[in-house]
Amino acid sequence: MPKNKIRKFQENLTFPNLFQIEYHDLIAKGCKLKGNWHQTYFKNENPIILELGCGKGEYTVGLANKYPHHNYIGVDIKGARLWRGAMSSIEQNLTNTAFIRTQIETIDFYFEKNEVSEIWVTFPDPQPKPLKAHKRLISPRFLEIYKRFLTPSGVIHLKTDNLNLFEYCLEMIKMEKHELMLQTKDLYNSDIEEDVKNIQTYYETRYLREGKKINYLKFRLHE
Ligand SMILES: C[S@@+](CC[C@H](N)C(=O)[O-])C[C@H]1O[C@@H](n2cnc3c(N)ncnc32)[C@H](O)[C@@H]1O
Repeated sequence: MPKNKIRKFQENLTFPNLFQIEYHDLIAKGCKLKGNWHQTYFKNENPIILELGCGKGEYTVGLANKYPHHNYIGVDIKGARLWRGAMSSIEQNLTNTAFIRTQIETIDFYFEKNEVSEIWVTFPDPQPKPLKAHKRLISPRFLEIYKRFLTPSGVIHLKTDNLNLFEYCLEMIKMEKHELMLQTKDLYNSDIEEDVKNIQTYYETRYLREGKKINYLKFRLHE
């Protein structure tokens, strides 16, 4: 493993804003912050917003700067990428961010019913093979997991360059009777005026440079 990566993994263990629990411990003992993020970690009652598959955490850090009265948690499995988000938060003295290193499949071990107000899924791996459809972060399997901790009015945002994934999500939202609130297949030529245009992730910057169009949708889970 490159030395730089080893150093980041070691530093991750010292960051007060980055949480990682060994899978066996998580299953056996759970996460002490579950149900206690407001009281124990953020020390306020502000809404908690997740960025799933956050990579280097550009959305988490960008939104946390813009909205100091909201709390943001970036989640990813890649430690070296999370290092960037956690480090940027420390450098910028952000007290309204946290990062969790885990497989998103286990994310409900970290949050209690109604503990999360909103979810961003930014440029997820498209998992194009039908046999891997269950790995898509917006799919019936994952929505069942998110429902366990998302408030009833909570919304989910998706940004992706991948048109096939986007169309799959649109179809799935329709089939499952969720409430589609916004959608565009060309975000930067649309009149959508939300944070979705103001902050670009690492992958998004790359896709925009390649001239790709960005798809965006926002929806709410049915009861
Ligand atoms: C294409 S990258 C996008 C990263 C970032 N959101 C961006 O736009 O720059 C997808 C990210 O999702 C993470 N990821 C994909 N599936 C995951 C899973 N099941 N659990 C945790 N992380 C996952 C990967 O580790 C990777 O960092």
